[in-house]
Amino acid sequence: MESHGLGESEGLTFFLARPEDYDDVMAISHDIYGGNDYLPCRYHPWMTEPDRLVIIARRGSRLVALESSLVVDGGKTVVVEGLRVCPTERGHGLAGVIQRFADGYVKKVYPTVKNKRLTRADNPGPEKLSKFTYLDKRAILSLCGDSETFDGFVSYLKAKLNVSDGSTRYPLVTKHIDQAALKGLLLNPDVSSRLQLPGSAIIQDWQPLDLLESNLEVLARRNLSWFVDDLNEKPLFMSFHTPLYPVPFNGGSLRLNIDMFGTDASLAKRALTAHLNTVKGEIQSTVLVHMYMHPSLWEVMRQFCEGHDGVKQWRNYWEQLFLERELV
Ligand SMILES: CC(C)(COP(=O)(O)OP(=O)(O)OC[C@H]1O[C@@H](n2cnc3c(N)ncnc32)[C@H](O)[C@@H]1OP(=O)(O)O)[C@@H](O)C(=O)NCCC(=O)NCCS
Repeated sequence: MESHGLGESEGLTFFLARPEDYDDVMAISHDIYGGNDYLPCRYHPWMTEPDRLVIIARRGSRLVALESSLVVDGGKTVVVEGLRVCPTERGHGLAGVIQRFADGYVKKVYPTVKNKRLTRADNPGPEKLSKFTYLDKRAILSLCGDSETFDGFVSYLKAKLNVSDGSTRYPLVTKHIDQAALKGLLLNPDVSSRLQLPGSAIIQDWQPLDLLESNLEVLARRNLSWFVDDLNEKPLFMSFHTPLYPVPFNGGSLRLNIDMFGTDASLAKRALTAHLNTVKGEIQSTVLVHMYMHPSLWEVMRQFCEGHDGVKQWRNYWEQLFLERELV
């Protein structure tokens, strides 16, 4: 079969993933993240993304694990994503085996990489976390709705916004920003402390990126929709959503990720409403909305979103942990 093996360890052979491995990868991916798996949609773009390595492990001819590594932060950091092990092989340390191989391979191909970063939803406890530096966490609020009720939900939030907010506190409008304005915003040395960025980074759909000029190109690839509130050119709140993408949930749904930075609750409500208003014409099926935010905002945002008949909270409070370790 493949002639492009990268190496072997503990009975596994490692390869760079190819487009034609898609079906084998999907075969080990059933039910991952409760149907919210991004990989069915991201796999093919990953094959050609600059500075991304996608490694698969096979036992004989059978694909048993995958991990992806994206080199960012001007070559200093690798962000690992997509980790998965075949259900019948879980619980035997394979995730560790593929990660050790991938770390070594990344080091070989990108000798400048010093740190490995990841985000994860489950908290494995202090013993496992002790291998990492804990950088920060985000709170996640998740909603589920469908195309029939989504417009009504946006109107419902707009009405709530007008009552609760009055928009008197700040004489400003949540506004869309373009690439040129984005550069000024993100490379402003104050932005991290003003917006209380997690680990001084932004996290885009689970992918942490330092505020460096080299990462602007990575962000530009993602086709994000940004909103910012500022006062006298000083940012007060910043948010973006990743374009809706299909996930397996409920036989085929859309997923919307909204990443928010800042701690002002009224601005968070306005930002959420602005994002949902932007995408409402694109919803054609069930939609899962995940909002990632400073933990202090979670409860107020939950209350803001509650009370509508169609779009409902989908999951209890959950978190995104942001971890780092040295790549040795
Ligand atoms: C999470 C998953 C990859 C774990 O695989 P596994 O081989 O069963 O994990 P094991 O507990 O046997 O392996 C233990 C090793 O994997 C690491 N590991 C386990 N889960 C991990 C995770 N979510 N992120 C990073 N490393 C993980 C452990 O730290 C340990 O590493 P070590 O050998 O260096 O100590 C597997 O259950 C899976 O595919 N789940 C569905 C997909 C998923 O939830 N992926 C998580 C992405 S964050």
